[in-house]
Amino acid sequence: MIEYTMSCKKIDWLQVHEILDEAGLSHFSPEDQEKIFTNSDVVSFAIEGKTVVGVSRALSDGLSQAAIYNVAVRPEYQHRGVALGMVGRLLNALKGQNVILYTNPSNVSFYEKFEFRRCKTAMCYFVGENDHLQLLEDHGFMLPEGYRFVDEYPKKKISDAR
Ligand SMILES: CC(C)(COP(=O)(O)OP(=O)(O)OC[C@H]1O[C@@H](n2cnc3c(N)ncnc32)[C@H](O)[C@@H]1OP(=O)(O)O)[C@@H](O)C(=O)NCCC(=O)NCCS
Repeated sequence: MIEYTMSCKKIDWLQVHEILDEAGLSHFSPEDQEKIFTNSDVVSFAIEGKTVVGVSRALSDGLSQAAIYNVAVRPEYQHRGVALGMVGRLLNALKGQNVILYTNPSNVSFYEKFEFRRCKTAMCYFVGENDHLQLLEDHGFMLPEGYRFVDEYPKKKISDAR
């Protein structure tokens, strides 16, 4: 039976590392993942026996603003409502706060289930070499450098033509 916990006690950080590494979301060592999750304000794990099957976490000021990160479920446990269970618990703990996140385009409909909306002016500053930033572009996380709003381009073209 899959159970959920919002505590970092008894979590096997090697498994957390493996899940996030395999999902391509984060490649920190098990020791660093322990720091990252224990320093987060809210965490939600899905566990079956000794197996960590899903991980998620959020940063929050405790009152008004929060951000969700590192939501991932082992491939063999996907499509069983595990992420819904974890994210539902995170959002419950963050009730009353604005919550932001960024995600792979393929997951947009997952977050729409919780009434998240695409944000036109969200901006990010990512640490990393050019190839890492290119990877983020290639996967559709980040728009190309200099890109602003899609609706600006047709207008520009019209005025250029005059
Ligand atoms: C995205 C992810 C966490 C979803 O986990 P999950 O436990 O399979 O999701 P759930 O079963 O709770 O999803 C419930 C519903 O959300 C919807 N959904 C939308 N996008 C989805 C997606 N990419 N994956 C799974 N479900 C998705 C589906 O309707 C799904 O129901 P279904 O399985 O009957 O089709 C999982 O696919 C994953 O770990 N992906 C790799 C890491 C990642 O991209 N994480 C998000 C970064 S923020």
